[in-house]
Amino acid sequence: MTRRFLFVLGSARADGNTELLARRAAEQLPPEVEQQWIDLTADPLPDFEDLRHDSDHVRPTEGPVAHVLDATVAATDVVIASPLYWYSVSAHTKRYLDHWSGWLRTPGLDFKATMAGRTLWGVTALAHEEQEVADPLIGTLNNSAAYMGMRFGGVLLGNGSKPGDVLRDTEALARAKTFFAQDAPLARFPYEAG
Ligand SMILES: Cc1cc2nc3c(=O)[nH]c(=O)nc-3n(C[C@H](O)[C@H](O)[C@H](O)COP(=O)(O)O)c2cc1C
Repeated sequence: MTRRFLFVLGSARADGNTELLARRAAEQLPPEVEQQWIDLTADPLPDFEDLRHDSDHVRPTEGPVAHVLDATVAATDVVIASPLYWYSVSAHTKRYLDHWSGWLRTPGLDFKATMAGRTLWGVTALAHEEQEVADPLIGTLNNSAAYMGMRFGGVLLGNGSKPGDVLRDTEALARAKTFFAQDAPLARFPYEAG
């Protein structure tokens, strides 16, 4: 299967550090790897409504939810590019992930089986110098991947507060060069780790 990367941008501003860092990492992907970029601020999703147990719940066929759903199931690799907001993912990103819960129960979609074995990655900018404050975000993505039976490639972290700051984080830019080339093992919950 040809690799197809979906970049899901979750910053509440355009051209921020997270996107800059994600684009640096994406530049290293081979040309035959397809890339699709979706900006959740430019094309906002509606609030997630929990219809999982309603029998008339159907797959959306138009609008932003259908667009991002189609892009998600077409991707071999989903890159969550969210800034660190209150030590976790942004609200835009969280809403996208909440929609996954609806898709898990959408008749005819088989979302979990479809995504199993595919790879989840993260890219995050944060203002804090000490990167361990991003552990809750990393845990969210790792555990989500584990629940879905997906691989997890880890989270590329970069430091910055105002847009463009991350371009001065030379260590992050160096990590970006090889980030998507690294191994992405099947995700495991922390209690499963050997
Ligand atoms: C709502 C909000 C919450 C934030 N929470 C944190 C945080 O918990 N830890 C941190 O280090 N930086 C925090 N920041 C700073 C951003 O992570 C930082 O400005 C980052 O560069 C934003 O990424 P962006 O340029 O891609 O939008 C927060 C910023 C905002 C707007």
